[in-house]
Amino acid sequence: MKVATSTPQLRAMLAAERGKRRIVLVPTMGCLHEGHATLIREARKLGDLVVVSIYVNPLQFGPNEDFARYPRSFEADAGVCDEAGADVIFHPENLYPDGAPKVSLTVHGLSDVLCGASRPGHFDGVATVVNILFNAVGPDIAVFGEKDWQQLAIIRRMVADLHMPVEIVGVPTVREAGGLAMSSRNRYLDKQQLLTGRALHAALESMRLQALTGEHDAAVLLDAGKRVLAAAGISPEYLEIRVADSLESLTVLDGSPARAFVAARIGPARLIDNIPIARMTETPCISPC
Ligand code: PAJ
Repeated sequence: MKVATSTPQLRAMLAAERGKRRIVLVPTMGCLHEGHATLIREARKLGDLVVVSIYVNPLQFGPNEDFARYPRSFEADAGVCDEAGADVIFHPENLYPDGAPKVSLTVHGLSDVLCGASRPGHFDGVATVVNILFNAVGPDIAVFGEKDWQQLAIIRRMVADLHMPVEIVGVPTVREAGGLAMSSRNRYLDKQQLLTGRALHAALESMRLQALTGEHDAAVLLDAGKRVLAAAGISPEYLEIRVADSLESLTVLDGSPARAFVAARIGPARLIDNIPIARMTETPCISPC
């Protein structure tokens, strides 16, 4: 496994491979866990040369967010990359050597809702750095986690709107045994907070199960989810049901792909989660039930 610390060094490393092997990129901010490792293993299956980028992108953190204390653990991360089958780590020191870029990307609409509502500029920063990473690596495929569904939806839209020559692949959320979505920010939590955090997934699951048994009114489903959160002492930043790709809000599950989303502060960490939520199917059982 090789490590490149600048764009020219990375380009030189990849020059001989370009066009011959399918290059797959897994963008990350490091502090890698089993969720990231799953993305890397998936990338390994999809192509021949796996590049993992590790870069804590200042552009996507707000002034009062955790940029300075975001955990950085390159040695351990390199071990995770190696074990999961990465060929190259792209670990640039600074992608903005001239300071904040004068030219950057702006996300419209999709970034006003859910996490974007409380994190102004966050998704502009994500789109800008992912565009830079695509330019540096030139991947055929890029792999992202469904855990950050809004980010995935925005990246898909960026690639479509800007005609970028890269295929985007989403990977389902990897969870701890109790259902808590794995996250680099789980490291901020103590034992009790980790237990409380399970309520996020439990709330989403309670909504999904009610929908499967015939409740299609979003307000009723959201009430059920809020009760689960309240029982754990959580008052969410948001709990919402939206159309999966457009992120438009929904009042009734009408059969189009939808997802339930939650964000909440648990102790020192702001955690997010989402799951698909579907109408009860009206197809009767075919096998004897
Ligand atoms: P980071 O939070 O490090 O996540 C890197 C990738 O891992 C993202 O695609 C994220 O969705 C995925 N991921 C994180 N936890 C996961 C889990 N439990 N299951 C499945 N996938 C998971 O997301 C970012 O970094 C940044 O915004 C980035 C895209 C790198 C741009 O800076």
